[in-house]
Amino acid sequence: MSLNLDKFKSVISHAKEYGFIFQSSEIYDGLSAVYDYAQNGVELKNNIRQYWWKSMVQMHDNIVGIDSAVLMHPTVWKASGHVDAFNDPLIDNKDSKKRYRADVLVEDYCAKIEGKIEKEIKKATKRFGDSFDKEQFINTNPRIIGYNNKISDILSRLAKSLENEDLEDVRNLIIELEIVCPISGSKNWTDVKQFNLMFGTKLGASADTATDLFLRPETAQGIFVNFLNVQKTGRMKIPFGIAQTGKAFRNEIVARQFIFRMREFEQMEMQFFVKPGTQADWYKKWKETRMKWHLSLGMGEDNYRFHDHEKLAHYADAASDIEFNFPFGFKELEGIHSRTDFDLKQHQEFSGKKLQYYDNELKESYTPCVVETSIGLDRMFLAILSNSLKEEMLDNNTTRTVLKIPPFLCPYKVALLPLVKKDGLPQIAKDIYNTLKLEFNVTYDEKDAVGRRYRRQDAIGTPYCITVDHQTKDDNTITIRERDSMQQVRIPLTDIEKYIKDKVSFNPTLLAM
Ligand code: GAP
Repeated sequence: MSLNLDKFKSVISHAKEYGFIFQSSEIYDGLSAVYDYAQNGVELKNNIRQYWWKSMVQMHDNIVGIDSAVLMHPTVWKASGHVDAFNDPLIDNKDSKKRYRADVLVEDYCAKIEGKIEKEIKKATKRFGDSFDKEQFINTNPRIIGYNNKISDILSRLAKSLENEDLEDVRNLIIELEIVCPISGSKNWTDVKQFNLMFGTKLGASADTATDLFLRPETAQGIFVNFLNVQKTGRMKIPFGIAQTGKAFRNEIVARQFIFRMREFEQMEMQFFVKPGTQADWYKKWKETRMKWHLSLGMGEDNYRFHDHEKLAHYADAASDIEFNFPFGFKELEGIHSRTDFDLKQHQEFSGKKLQYYDNELKESYTPCVVETSIGLDRMFLAILSNSLKEEMLDNNTTRTVLKIPPFLCPYKVALLPLVKKDGLPQIAKDIYNTLKLEFNVTYDEKDAVGRRYRRQDAIGTPYCITVDHQTKDDNTITIRERDSMQQVRIPLTDIEKYIKDKVSFNPTLLAM
């Protein structure tokens, strides 16, 4: 097992042990690919959502938010193309009876070749030391060129076959690459078949009269059907955006990798309505803006990359993923799609209602084009959790586990720790706690030695620990310990709020973007 997969295992067990994520219905042995956010997880998740909302909605004069219902009129999904085309290509292994996404089997095969490239680069970095030029090595080393060509040939063939609905060729590709079932090890594959990912449900009391509905597979359609309502009531002028966050549901067949691919998950989406013909420029702008948002979190430029799509969804004229370096490799974190005027035109046709924008300057009506940014909140959570989990060796040869989450996203901003459980110290700590809790999410802990309490706070990412000691009683000062440096400073009680506020606010990060 590679180091990164060991890391992934640690992330999963840390998430459970420290109250971030539990499996849904765990006492009944769980429900596959469905998860619950626990007491610390829900705070981190809320903070990520809030940071996204602030930067995408409230920091933009021309973007507003909505919160549309999960259940929608069934014709929405006919119009959007989801009833006919929201499918995954599936293949079964006849020996293990396990079902796989055919495209994922091929992509995993390519990821293994990428792993070989990484190994070659690592070896060369060691060999050449400081003089190593990675770019040049990638472009000139025959073995790496061969690997890259192979990946590119395989992925273009896969994209072409999927686009042409040539499922037989997808199967042939799997056979030619000699891909085996990870469980049985055999190449005994069935044909590839399409499978619709939407969850069905029913509206109404009796089986005869009930209407068939779907749980929404994306939040975007709730925005499209409200386009005119928002534009008119908000007197919005093009270009403008509508954003929302909320649950989406997909009957994922290959649901794995923890919260990376779930059946019930949350999206943060923004549809930006623009004048037809300008969408290519806006697409470029939103790609840049969203990458800047990610980089603002300080998780390292090398951990992100764009993946421009060869196979475009039925509604798009350009699409790109922002991929993140998860412990199991680079995978999609966010999608940026130029969706043309497809959705509005489809809803106009199926509803019979005019969904156009009257341009006062041009004195004409048109159907706007849409550039969409769509990020999975759970995937963002996983990116942050896996990137921030560190095992550190300390000077005294002990180790500590610490979550180096950006302070403004941390579940708790401050922990109040009386040095001992007597001499009036708990009361002083509780008084500070009661004052600070109006402003920040704070926690209080008086159990065990202070060193162990620091470790507990490190493990959930609390950036500041305030210790109340005997000196506090003499001079009204406390110590504040910073999580990453473990340095302590002593400051007056009266300065605490300002000291913390400056350090846990996301304002400087927003302004620097
Ligand atoms: N409205 C466009 C749309 O839904 P998508 O690429 O299917 O596009 C957007 O999904 C984002 O939603 C993805 O980049 C990913 O972060 C997240 N996402 C999609 N399926 C998911 C799943 N099964 N579990 C968790 N997140 C998922």
